[in-house]
Amino acid sequence: MCGIVGYVGSRYALPIVMEGIKRLEYRGYDSAGFATLTEDGMVVRKSAGRVSVVESVLPDLDQATKEATTAMAHTRWATHGAPNDENAHPHCDSSGKISLVHNGIIENYHSLRTYLEKEGVTFESATDTEVLVQLVGHLYKGNLEQAVREALLQVDGTYGIAVLSSQEPGVIIAARRGSPLIIGVGKDEYLVASDAAAIVEHTNQVIYMSDNEIARVTASGFSMTNLDAMPVTKELSDLELSLEEIELGGYEHFMLKEIFEQPKSLEDCLRGRIDLKNGEVHLGGLRDCARELIRAKRFIFSACGTAWHAGLVGEYLFEDLARIPTETEYASEFRYRNPIINDGTVVLSISQSGETADTMAAMNEAKERGALCLGVVNVVGSSISRNTDAGVYLHVGPEIGVASTKAFMGQLAVISLIAAYLGRRRHMSQAASAEYLRALNGVPAQISKLLDQADRAKAIAEAYVHRDNWLYLGRGYNYPVALEGALKLKEISYIHAEGLPAAEMKHGPIALITEGMPVVVIATDGMQYGKIVGNIEEVRARGGHVIAIATEGNTEIESLAKHTFYVPDIAEPLQPLLTVVPLQLIAYHAAVLRGCNVDKPRNLAKSVTVE
Ligand code: G6P
Repeated sequence: MCGIVGYVGSRYALPIVMEGIKRLEYRGYDSAGFATLTEDGMVVRKSAGRVSVVESVLPDLDQATKEATTAMAHTRWATHGAPNDENAHPHCDSSGKISLVHNGIIENYHSLRTYLEKEGVTFESATDTEVLVQLVGHLYKGNLEQAVREALLQVDGTYGIAVLSSQEPGVIIAARRGSPLIIGVGKDEYLVASDAAAIVEHTNQVIYMSDNEIARVTASGFSMTNLDAMPVTKELSDLELSLEEIELGGYEHFMLKEIFEQPKSLEDCLRGRIDLKNGEVHLGGLRDCARELIRAKRFIFSACGTAWHAGLVGEYLFEDLARIPTETEYASEFRYRNPIINDGTVVLSISQSGETADTMAAMNEAKERGALCLGVVNVVGSSISRNTDAGVYLHVGPEIGVASTKAFMGQLAVISLIAAYLGRRRHMSQAASAEYLRALNGVPAQISKLLDQADRAKAIAEAYVHRDNWLYLGRGYNYPVALEGALKLKEISYIHAEGLPAAEMKHGPIALITEGMPVVVIATDGMQYGKIVGNIEEVRARGGHVIAIATEGNTEIESLAKHTFYVPDIAEPLQPLLTVVPLQLIAYHAAVLRGCNVDKPRNLAKSVTVE
């Protein structure tokens, strides 16, 4: 969603906040803006388009503005109001003395706006955010923090905000409910940000704000209170993030970098967690609830998007290896459909960002109903990770490309580990567990080998990039991979694609197949190989072109498919870790060939912090 960065200190603030929002552009990128304070008052610039559009005005600013030491900036992903200049943040109150940037949704903005209009306030934008800053302005009586607090007490919805006032120079008021916000602690300088990537260049000491907290931040320190104005004590945390990790490092796009990073990030994810000798899995984050987990009667995986696909693989793994009834739910559906949580139900939330609003709300709902809540999350210190009862981090490093790749891989790996951990304690023999873990441990090397043939994926993309409809088919463990392959293609190349369990094709989608239609079939060796060959024949009989993902050594497939991408041999439960990689590469090359912005696809955001 939207990105927020604020700075107060002794250095020139604008270059710092602009560099910060450039690093957050992956969170939202339809418009951007900044506000800064000089002796003459508030300076605000904003416009539709990328951060670079706003950045281009910097050289023309007057010297006092360039030298200002307090500023904030914002990059937007539109919810209320079109992505144009007026709706870009920061928004100001009618006096022009208070400005505000916001990530989230003010749900009762309509009634607040009607009230303020009756009070004589005129609005310049169609956003919910302007309502909030106008309310702050309306309530302001000489104390910005107090006015923000009073305004927030009237607000329904979610927010991460930063607020400046020309009447209180050198002060940033920050507050959060439901949208992430951290305070970076430097030497005689402080930063406010929605995401650590924006500030890691300046400090690795941070305070994670919690819901309903308000911070008053100045160059000499900060104070934190809750909405009732009671002081809150916070602890400093270390950021586990380095600048190199969030830079391109010679790759053309973050997505490509992250695809190629997968052998290394998977090693990082598995490190120290596998004991091959004893066929054991060590997951420190689950130690405290091990007994409850072993006795669990049912698991529910809750997630959105790519993480939901990882959950679906997990459902197969948990039932297969640990013999625990498991369901995978869209978090957005789970939270609103009166779910049944019995004694022994464990809800496991999967999320790269740890900030997805629906996933977090579903987890809170499950908690209220008494479920043990686990998290499988990548971003350390994120909201979901801090609100679960226990969990396992992915440790795959920051993922910047909007289309998730290495995080999906990490999610698959962590869920595979948890399945073996539980399986070993319930049904798996030591030998079976050791064999499975040995195979999992070998996956990073197999991915490296597979990436050596990345050019094959490019050739496949070149052959079919002009086609507007693709199908992706898989069975068993590879059915969720078919869904993920189709999603990757859709989100970054804007080609319509549908993923299906292969046998379902004949119940409708087969009608779509015409001469030359690309149909990607995951046809790796395994129990259902014979069946999938049958599906391939059905596609061929209708003129479809089969792009097969097959196991090395299978020569039969070449006579059936127009194109084949081979993956190394591995046990079926672990195949998704390999079969997804060619699909990531095909989607990447298709997007590049179509001239799409791979890392910032239209209408999408990396982390969806609104419902
Ligand atoms: C967004 C992203 C997807 C991601 C989904 C869930 O829609 O564009 O790539 O899979 O959110 O995100 P999470 O951070 O919860 O894994």
